Amino acid sequence: MQILYKSDPQRGALWQQWLAQHAPDIQLHLWPETGNPHEIEMLIAWQPPENMMETFPGLKALLSVGAGADQFDLSALPPDLPVVRMIEPGLTQGMVEYVTFAVLGLHRDMPRYLQQQRDARWQAHSVRPAAARRVGVMGLGELGQASLRQLVSLGFDCAGWSRTPREIEGATCFHGADRLGAFLARSDILVCLLPLTAETRGLLNHDLFRQLPAGAALVQAGRGAQLHHNDLLAALDSGQLSAAVIDVTDPEPLPSTHPFWRHPAIWLTPHIASQTQADSAAAALLENLRRYQRGEPMKGLIDRARGY
Ligand code: NAP
Ligand code: GLV
Repeated sequence: MQILYKSDPQRGALWQQWLAQHAPDIQLHLWPETGNPHEIEMLIAWQPPENMMETFPGLKALLSVGAGADQFDLSALPPDLPVVRMIEPGLTQGMVEYVTFAVLGLHRDMPRYLQQQRDARWQAHSVRPAAARRVGVMGLGELGQASLRQLVSLGFDCAGWSRTPREIEGATCFHGADRLGAFLARSDILVCLLPLTAETRGLLNHDLFRQLPAGAALVQAGRGAQLHHNDLLAALDSGQLSAAVIDVTDPEPLPSTHPFWRHPAIWLTPHIASQTQADSAAAALLENLRRYQRGEPMKGLIDRARGY
């Protein structure tokens, strides 16, 4: 089988080597080298090349190198072309680490203490146990569930919110737009791990922030276009929110003049919460290619109607 890779060249080179060793029947071409374009069956990319279907008429599936596939213009792709996102343990573990870091940092008042350090002010505030901190995770998929389980194990009072019903031991699960208000009302720290869809675009806005307990904090590791920047700044300025950890923005990169860079209550990271790890993802990729060869559905298949 011939497959084409168009993304970070270092990871591509590693995958090429790894597949040559573990699956010599699969040949991975590294863009811009394509072999015979008519023989390419799979394209693995973050951004596919222009005129993809014309150039690679035998394409059977488009695979994202990342957990999301919202970067693809699904409406421009043939409706029957399977689109598959990345599910692999390294990516999941990275997000668990980021969410844990952010929630612990907020729980232990670190934005406030870092400001006090800048002001050379020695002032203690009361310490709340994790059990007295209500954490809510929006999105209970691969990344949300793993992150929530870690937070449960740390003793936080945890809840989750998804589109359809989910069950996670130790956490209260809410689902659907009707239950969003009840979920938000018990989220002192709100973590967003939602995919970008028509329903979630712009969801983190004034109307949502006002339903959180006063002084709540936000962790945004979903997608930039879910967050309304001016509404976040207003919520921080009014005290409705106390702090925010922001990993994804729209646009990316954020212009150097943007107020997020210098806001004392915002920790900003450049979309690094989690990344596909070349070694663990190689095995996950091969497993999915074998599923395809056996005629089984690949893991991470995007449901075009749901948008994720
Ligand atoms: P996933 O497995 O597809 O899970 C998505 C979750 O969101 C599901 O629980 C789904 O509900 C829920 N959801 C979707 N639309 C919803 C809606 N309208 N209302 C309520 N819940 C809704 O995705 P994942 O692998 O966990 O990844 C989640 C997202 O994380 C990615 O799409 C990407 O945007 C982001 N991400 C960010 C980074 C980073 O570095 N910052 C890295 C990787 C991923 P159901 O369970 O009912 O389907
Ligand atoms: C990163 O944001 C990804 O989708 O993997």
